[in-house]
Amino acid sequence: MPTEDQIDLFSLGDVALTQASSDFNPDDIPTSARVPIPPGTYSSMEQMQAHCNQCFRCDLGKTRTHAVIGRGNPKAPIMIVGEGPGQNEDETGIAFVGKAGQLLDKILASVNLTEEDVFICNVVKCRPPGNRAPTKDEAEACKGYLLEQIRMVNPKIILLTGATALKGLLGITQGITKVRGQWIEQGDRLYMPIFHPAYLLRNPSREKGSPKWLMWQDIQAVRARLDELQAAGKV
Ligand code: URA
Repeated sequence: MPTEDQIDLFSLGDVALTQASSDFNPDDIPTSARVPIPPGTYSSMEQMQAHCNQCFRCDLGKTRTHAVIGRGNPKAPIMIVGEGPGQNEDETGIAFVGKAGQLLDKILASVNLTEEDVFICNVVKCRPPGNRAPTKDEAEACKGYLLEQIRMVNPKIILLTGATALKGLLGITQGITKVRGQWIEQGDRLYMPIFHPAYLLRNPSREKGSPKWLMWQDIQAVRARLDELQAAGKV
């Protein structure tokens, strides 16, 4: 919902549209955070990418090299939401290509999930300086983009990696250690909080009960649920 001080995207000056349409030129969309992003604004990730590279809805726009939209299948049954781009992602414009991303790919491959099965993106599309976590305002300024990505991909399963994704998307502030591995059903989607792969890099033990071991349990549960959904013709 737009907050009180937000202005309506489509009643600004000369721009007199009443609703978003797929032929709307993203270059015409104001990028102030006070302007909401209505559902239906974008018809492709490429369109969103072009817009995000000109976005100044928050100050992260001032320091980015590239906005990072996401990678994988834009019609995937599973979406994975991270925190925000790091240095490698900012330089290349590609999500999760650094060490954390490489580990994420290995975790997915361990249960035969490929780029066909997932679309990987982040709460914020621009790198927070020094790889700090995005602020609440930055996450909020960027949320319309994430919601548009969910609308376009229409995944059945959304994996939330770490506290920033859990809070940014579902507003849940419980610690990830408490809630990881639990399915949260909302609307016609299934969400599961999981550890962020960067956390696993800092905790390399594979002992039973360790974060890596727990991730292994979680990703197997995700694989099993996807198999069930596919068998039932739901994805
Ligand atoms: N960490 C994230 O949360 N996202 C990326 O894209 C890379 C590292």
